[in-house]
Amino acid sequence: DAHCTLALVKPDVAQDEQAVATIIGRITARGYTIKDRVEITLSRAQASAFYAEHSDRPFFEGLVAFMSSGPTVALLLEGDDVVRGWRMMVGPTSPATARQQMPQSIRALLGDDGPRNAVHGSDSAESAQRELGFFFHPRIQAEVEEEP
Ligand code: CMP
Repeated sequence: DAHCTLALVKPDVAQDEQAVATIIGRITARGYTIKDRVEITLSRAQASAFYAEHSDRPFFEGLVAFMSSGPTVALLLEGDDVVRGWRMMVGPTSPATARQQMPQSIRALLGDDGPRNAVHGSDSAESAQRELGFFFHPRIQAEVEEEP
């Protein structure tokens, strides 16, 4: 369903605590819940796998280099129609276009250019399932017995 999606804060922004706080504040103000959060520096192989659908594009090498250049913050978002809603908050792929067409969007506010567009959002419920599986695993409820 469209009830969960993946939000990424990319390496151009992930180390800027104030920017991350701004993004999280917008998400929660919109009524979405952040169910899980991980910070990871992707390897080149992981970045290539995550963006495999773009492997034939001219920008692929630059995208992989950028995405493996530093930490990424991955957020599991939950809420009504959150796949579409988060994409709306993110704005157009190009920050320059975003500044012209959606000046309130996150990419307009925080994006640079090229692959450095601050955030990512899954483009469909199907993509969200696949992409969430890339960063998050179902939590196994373990009964922990303390050793004496
Ligand atoms: P994202 O929404 O994460 O999905 C694919 C990413 O590829 C996109 O954000 C950008 O970071 C990058 N990208 C897409 N189009 C271009 C482009 N024309 N030039 C450079 N990077 C791009």
